[in-house]
Amino acid sequence: MSRAALPGFRDFYPQEFAERAYVMDAWREVTRRYGFVEYDGPPLEPLELYTAKSGEEIVGQLYVFEDKGGRKVALRPEMTPTFARMVGAKLNALRKPVRWFSTPQLFRYERQQKGRLREHFQLNVDIVGEADVAADAELLACAIDVMREVGLTSKDVRARVSDRRLIGALLSHFEIADKDQPLVYAVLDKLDREPRDVLEKRLTDAGIAFHTVGSLFEAVASRDLDELRSRLGGMRALDGHFETLGRYFELLEALGVRDWVQLDLSVVRGLAYYTGIVFELFDNEGEFRAICGGGRYDDLLATLGGTAAPALGFGMGDVVLGELLRSRKLMPALEPAVDFWVACDDDALLPDVMSVAAKLRGSGRSVEYSLKGQQLSRQMKAAASAGAGQVVILLRDQWSGGSGTVTVKTLADGTERVVRSDVLLNFPMQDNG
Ligand code: HAM
Repeated sequence: MSRAALPGFRDFYPQEFAERAYVMDAWREVTRRYGFVEYDGPPLEPLELYTAKSGEEIVGQLYVFEDKGGRKVALRPEMTPTFARMVGAKLNALRKPVRWFSTPQLFRYERQQKGRLREHFQLNVDIVGEADVAADAELLACAIDVMREVGLTSKDVRARVSDRRLIGALLSHFEIADKDQPLVYAVLDKLDREPRDVLEKRLTDAGIAFHTVGSLFEAVASRDLDELRSRLGGMRALDGHFETLGRYFELLEALGVRDWVQLDLSVVRGLAYYTGIVFELFDNEGEFRAICGGGRYDDLLATLGGTAAPALGFGMGDVVLGELLRSRKLMPALEPAVDFWVACDDDALLPDVMSVAAKLRGSGRSVEYSLKGQQLSRQMKAAASAGAGQVVILLRDQWSGGSGTVTVKTLADGTERVVRSDVLLNFPMQDNG
């Protein structure tokens, strides 16, 4: 029998669990500051929830099977379809705009590579019911504030922003047929990773004129909105999109995150449902895959049979963020810590040790003790390795069946105090840190 977890699945030993909890605490803290409330849905969903609108790539990665009732079901590979279904079903009854977050574990049968596993936890933050670009700015600022919360700066991470409607209008302007647009999106997505001539050839092989490909590549290479606007000046169909993006950048400035954000029309997003501004967060060194991705998906609620409503959101995984934090030495190590260790110099005192521990626990303190009789020196070592702040020592001669005293030793500085056992419960807690 194999002793390892399945490929792409993780065992969370306490250190790894502490790292996961650290990241999730940051997610919760930042979403709380933005007023998002938590929800969850089922980890197993009907297959058609994903075939409807997620896009081929993710459907090809589904963990799918037939349940005992003959239903085709899938482990959730993403949260957005569940979210859109839940909100779409009750939109009229919900306070709007809806501002919800969730931290589901998701499952995708991915080809194994750095930053990609077959399960991951993903912060999902979504807003429904607001078409104004202010919501797009609010959403991106929230993702960026998570970066700040874990100690990253705009020198470490960049938000790359695009707009699917602008790209769509650009492709129409270049008279690229609708049927060729998915190919163009796929090529734009690879601009950073594959040689330009290979990508050019893929487009010209599909019948797109060489000079059109050149103009398109030039346009998407632009990292500055004003520069792009003047380069494409005269394309009236693009004016509205430029205005929206201009306002978006202005509002990002107002939210104090503008210096994290860069225009980058090569950001396409793999999922099929996005309709407007989209973004991804990357480390500035280009070492890791995307930390986070999201955008506007104004049609999805209606597609899934719910009330139509503008919607937008992002997903941020724990895997890439964890790798980045470890590589920047920003991931805290797990430090074991208890308030008290209770020790004794006589095995016969174990019941007394346990009742002292129970009383201290009853007053809210965290307490450990040796579960079997042990020499006092060993107990002191165990207390130190458990990160105990103080050790309560019951010495047979002092203790006198509970009517005498105990010695309380503070491990950080080695100081000792003798305390009457009946006042022990009110013994002031000392700061372990
Ligand atoms: P996504 O781009 O597929 O978007 O995933 C978002 C993030 O989840 C990625 O940037 C990455 O950090 C992490 N992630 C995705 N797949 C894996 C994997 N196999 N292993 C480790 N991490 C992974 C979505 O899922 C959208 N539903 C996000 C969204 C929410 N859009 C709107 N609302």
